[in-house]
Amino acid sequence: MKILVLGSGAGGGFPQWNCNCTLCAGQRHGRVQARPRTQSSIAVSDDGEHWALLNASPDLGHQLRSQPQLQPRHGTRHTPIAAVLLMDAQIDHAAGLLSLREGPPIELYCTPCVFDDLNTGLPLLPALQHYCGVRPHLLPVAGSRSEADFEIDGLPGLRWQALAIPGKAPPYSPHRHAPAVGDNIALHIEDRRSGRSLFYAPGLAAVGPREQAWMQAASCVMVDGTFWTEDEMPHAGLGAKTAAEMGHLPQCGQAGRPGMLQALDRLDGPRKVLIHINNSNPILDEAGPERQALARHGIEVAFDGMEIEL
Ligand code: MLT
Ligand code: MN
Ligand code: ZN
Repeated sequence: MKILVLGSGAGGGFPQWNCNCTLCAGQRHGRVQARPRTQSSIAVSDDGEHWALLNASPDLGHQLRSQPQLQPRHGTRHTPIAAVLLMDAQIDHAAGLLSLREGPPIELYCTPCVFDDLNTGLPLLPALQHYCGVRPHLLPVAGSRSEADFEIDGLPGLRWQALAIPGKAPPYSPHRHAPAVGDNIALHIEDRRSGRSLFYAPGLAAVGPREQAWMQAASCVMVDGTFWTEDEMPHAGLGAKTAAEMGHLPQCGQAGRPGMLQALDRLDGPRKVLIHINNSNPILDEAGPERQALARHGIEVAFDGMEIEL
């Protein structure tokens, strides 16, 4: 299985267009050693010819322009993108669907919750019916069903499992304050030939025993790296919301709430990668002490253009 990181940043990317924080301004003016990042999305393939997009970021047009493996190869109009899977309905993960409107109907894999949100609070799907059209494939993760196995046409070499995880519905969702199973999912993707697998969860609010077991079963985990600390945004004067209020587990824990570092420390074997890094997170600074701490824990930070083969 081939994995391409198209975007490794959280909502707004890095540097964020309107942000003058130490990291964003430092990156812009060369004072901080940090790569720019577009909003998070990865692409996965079993053969390098057919690809599934995991989330469609608002930066998708730019990401496809800079990624030759996802560009047209045959005839006058063509795309190697066979399917789009959504982990949630957040703007930074779904708005890129609009950038696919010139192509064939979008084979869209998402939960019923996400499908509803994209038909109501953020009606991208009805709008797209006037362009390429969307063929929905609903993943039965809803109500009492928290896991589902599924297949994707065009990628027969991969075995897919979706799993409901703790998180939040988007701020615009009609049920933002009534969380439901299927608002947020993680994926476990196994390559049938190599037997190796990826656990992908760019938004993950907590790692309970279930999530921990799924992560341990994977060859590589690529998980929520949004924040270093719980109150990073309010502390830097960048916003009122804490990590928990936004549905993210910070790397550093607090009393009674172990952080992502502790969850990853418990894993024995899998390659560990953080993705969906917010522009406020000090791990963006490649020369900073937080990045050195990650290295001591054996944790990598995804970057735009990163490639992983499993
Ligand atoms: C989030 O995951 O909370 C987002 O990155 C917020 C956003 O898209 O603005
Ligand atoms: Mn996000
Ligand atoms: Zn910033």
